[in-house]
Amino acid sequence: MSEPDPVALNPSDLARARELIRAAERVAVLTGAGISAESGIPTFREAQTGHWARFRPEDLASPAAYRRDPEMVWQWYAGRARDVQAAAPNPGHTALAELERRKGEGFLLATQNVDGLHARAGSERLIELHGNLAQARCERCAHVQPWPGEATAPPPCPVCGATLRPNVVWFGEYLPSAALEASQLAFAQADLALVIGTSSLVEPAASLPLLTLRGGGAVTEINPDQTPISALVTLRLAGRASQVLPALLEDYV
Ligand code: OAD
Repeated sequence: MSEPDPVALNPSDLARARELIRAAERVAVLTGAGISAESGIPTFREAQTGHWARFRPEDLASPAAYRRDPEMVWQWYAGRARDVQAAAPNPGHTALAELERRKGEGFLLATQNVDGLHARAGSERLIELHGNLAQARCERCAHVQPWPGEATAPPPCPVCGATLRPNVVWFGEYLPSAALEASQLAFAQADLALVIGTSSLVEPAASLPLLTLRGGGAVTEINPDQTPISALVTLRLAGRASQVLPALLEDYV
């Protein structure tokens, strides 16, 4: 992966991106694993470091895997939950919380990340499309509770006695419909969408920025690498989120 410094970004692109942010009344943001890369959380698809390079996704992140070997899946998620707890938000997360404070009700952040780092950075107008590693959910009654850190195997639900599972969306599962619909509305109505640190390969999240384009809004992509939506966006900033996002807000008081 290339790692350009933001100062190496074309100054006129940076100026235009700042202007788009300043002018927009409604801003919708989509983030993916790339925004947490510099907090030390591995991304999914990068060849050397990604989670899926070491594990086959269908062995761990699917309902079938959980039925086959619940203890192994539980322990893998327990490890990831510990890793994210030990990590800290980086300046990219913080900049988005800052942008929310400036835009107020016109702002929504939809993340595909399950690491909870946006909330820890102070984001509140936040939708966690793929769930949250810090929570467990009952398979049967949908009771949600904090992750029981002491359990080494899936414990029973305290409400109905069925089995708890990680509160994340697995391969082959639908996203929670209320979360998806609220995100779709925000992106369709946005003057500006920011697409940050996502490979834009996983639906339905990948299509959210297309709703903004369809509605006449602009889309700025922040990613060191090209993605399937790169050719469609209004503006591309090829840099790291933790550097580009603070630079975008630098003179926005
Ligand atoms: P990916 O791992 O697919 O993509 C990460 C993206 O971040 C890549 O396009 C990188 O180029 C980019 N990137 C890496 N470092 C970056 C940095 N410092 N700043 C900005 N961008 C950077 O992760 P996602 O797109 O989030 O779903 O993956 C989407 C979904 O696929 C995940 O939520 C997960 C997985 O299946 C579920 O678990 C349901």
